[in-house]
Amino acid sequence: MGKRRGRRRARKLPDSPVDCLIEGLTTEGRGLVHINDKAVFVDGALPGEKVKIEYTASTSKYDEAKVLEVIKASNDRVEPPCQHANICGGCSLQHLNTDKQIEIKQTALIESLEYIGKVKADEILPVISGPAVGYRYKARLGVRYVAKKERVLVGFREKRSNFLALIDQCEVLDSRVGHKLSALSALIYGLDAREHIPQIEVAIDDKDVVLVFRHLEALSDSDLSKLVDFAKNENFVIMLQSGGPKTIQNLWPEDFKNLSYSLKDQDIHFDFDANDFTQVNPQINQKMINRVIDLLDIQPDEKVLDLFCGLGNFTLPLAQKGAHVIGIEGSQELVNKAISNATKNNITNAEFHAVDLSLKLEGQRWLGQTYDKILLDPPRSGAMEMIHYLGKLGASKIVYVSCQPTTLARDAGVLVNEYGYRLLSAGVMDMFPHTAHVESIAVFEKV
Ligand SMILES: C[S@@+](CC[C@H](N)C(=O)[O-])C[C@H]1O[C@@H](n2cnc3c(N)ncnc32)[C@H](O)[C@@H]1O
Repeated sequence: MGKRRGRRRARKLPDSPVDCLIEGLTTEGRGLVHINDKAVFVDGALPGEKVKIEYTASTSKYDEAKVLEVIKASNDRVEPPCQHANICGGCSLQHLNTDKQIEIKQTALIESLEYIGKVKADEILPVISGPAVGYRYKARLGVRYVAKKERVLVGFREKRSNFLALIDQCEVLDSRVGHKLSALSALIYGLDAREHIPQIEVAIDDKDVVLVFRHLEALSDSDLSKLVDFAKNENFVIMLQSGGPKTIQNLWPEDFKNLSYSLKDQDIHFDFDANDFTQVNPQINQKMINRVIDLLDIQPDEKVLDLFCGLGNFTLPLAQKGAHVIGIEGSQELVNKAISNATKNNITNAEFHAVDLSLKLEGQRWLGQTYDKILLDPPRSGAMEMIHYLGKLGASKIVYVSCQPTTLARDAGVLVNEYGYRLLSAGVMDMFPHTAHVESIAVFEKV
């Protein structure tokens, strides 16, 4: 990365500023214009806008620029809810109204399905949306002591940079943390270990805000007591992490057990730990689960496979409908927690297995049978290795939840063009407002 940045800097930038008319918007949320037959990606510009730009990087294939002045604004332009929207790389769409944000995400999904997967959905599902600010319950905050500025930066990277942005609040994070970045910065600045804390992991549940401080050196007694005071004053749970995830320990309160979230509509409760995968947006998660239940139309006594099941976030609600559900997940720790969550919720018709789904799966017992319905919710890389097994399991319906439309489209192409499924419907779920991330869902039916 460092090398690439170096090469880009070495290349002479075209003369700027330049006035131009923005032609389109990329899926990353940058304005697109062609100048002298070369694509220029412009941070902060919207389609149809006349803007004055300054070049920031140049490669042989394209240039990059940022807006210096909006000469004629788009009707879709809004005042960003966050004062740091222009510099912080966490969000790239804050200057675009939220309806339009959803529209471009939907277009990205439809176009990916069409161009990458060569498939078209019969129907576009209504968008699932929720609050556009304060929605994020999970985050990794970067921390860096900058001697020259005599301060500690806490937050996210600058746009297209490895440097942390100088921000003092974040509007998409739950405000209990998002509005405490300055306080965190001041706290760490006052620690002996201020140069040895690279990140804070944030995990919020139905009740508590947990901050896990990663530290590269042992903390002094004075640092420990400052952290405890901060936890008490700000009502945070603070944990310390000296090495890998297994080294995470409570600092305050000492007897903190675990986090937990509830799906109110199902009356199901999940225990989890701060570093476990959980969906970042609890409101959208509840709506997404309700939609998956509707779409799969589970009948009692059906056999259902839930791939990439994590803590059982979908598995337990599906099992509650009376189906026998088999959850498959790569992390043994998450599988153990899924089993314990099933027991705590008195759910006996769910079983879980730890399996790496990117490997060859011949000989796996759960693959040697057929299923009525299948749900999968893979990571961004999708389910390329798994999808060929999946096509042969006989399911009448497959619901695919995705956080990357391009890999969903690739896998959809395999199901439709090689295994005789039809893409009944697809749609977006606004899990990450103001960012360019697209969460989507697709429903396949065996023809
Ligand atoms: C997007 S998360 C979904 C988790 C769960 N469905 C939920 O809603 O909380 C993807 C899950 O896939 C798991 N995973 C990632 N790579 C995997 C692999 N190669 N094999 C099996 N599971 C994997 C992760 O541990 C994570 O739990």
